Amino acid sequence: MPVIAVDGPAASGKGTIARALAKHFGLPHMDTGLLYRAVALNLWRWGGDPANEFEALRACDELGFDPADPELRREAVSEVASRISVYPGVRAALLKRQQQFARQEGGAVLDGRDIGTVIAPDADVKLFVTASPEVRAERRLKELESRGMNAHYRDVLADIRARDERDSTREVAPLKPAPDAIVLDTSKLGAAEAIAEALRLAEQRLASA
Ligand code: CDP
Repeated sequence: MPVIAVDGPAASGKGTIARALAKHFGLPHMDTGLLYRAVALNLWRWGGDPANEFEALRACDELGFDPADPELRREAVSEVASRISVYPGVRAALLKRQQQFARQEGGAVLDGRDIGTVIAPDADVKLFVTASPEVRAERRLKELESRGMNAHYRDVLADIRARDERDSTREVAPLKPAPDAIVLDTSKLGAAEAIAEALRLAEQRLASA
């Protein structure tokens, strides 16, 4: 059964695409960003310092969380998640859970930053979903507004750029397409079009395997 890796930067639409692929192929799905968010939420709740790697590591202990918890999606938590995900120890602490999920018998879909490069380098299909920072900022802004939150385009764009920079320049598992990944730029695609294109690419890759 296939393993499908979906990577990409913040607000690129990788989560929507990964969920659609999982549904289409009848596979279980893991949003690996939630693991980093869960660590961030732990740290944030007990007032730990994201600049302190030791404290971030402690926040990885006994990581139980509810994926539906809206607290995981708070902006403050996103910010902390982005900062603590640069620590090699934090990444190592979350590695096994992700690899076990990827290796389960029936196949799986995982989305994140380093699925095709580190977690599941042998994945049958690797998609790298991207879009321009401006388009991603628009999408994130709409998402925030739909959740009743106020934000300014300028700030959202600055945040997206800062996260891109941190994600792509960190030493361990930086955000970059695997050599054998298919890059899907969704800048000019609506959600339905992006999903249709991802399904087409995945079917094509699986048929040629
Ligand atoms: O899509 P968005 O960036 O808003 O959030 P996410 O995918 O839930 O990821 C939250 C943070 O975790 C990101 O800023 C990444 O830095 C980090 N992350 C990572 O380093 N590796 C992963 N496989 C997934 C997320």
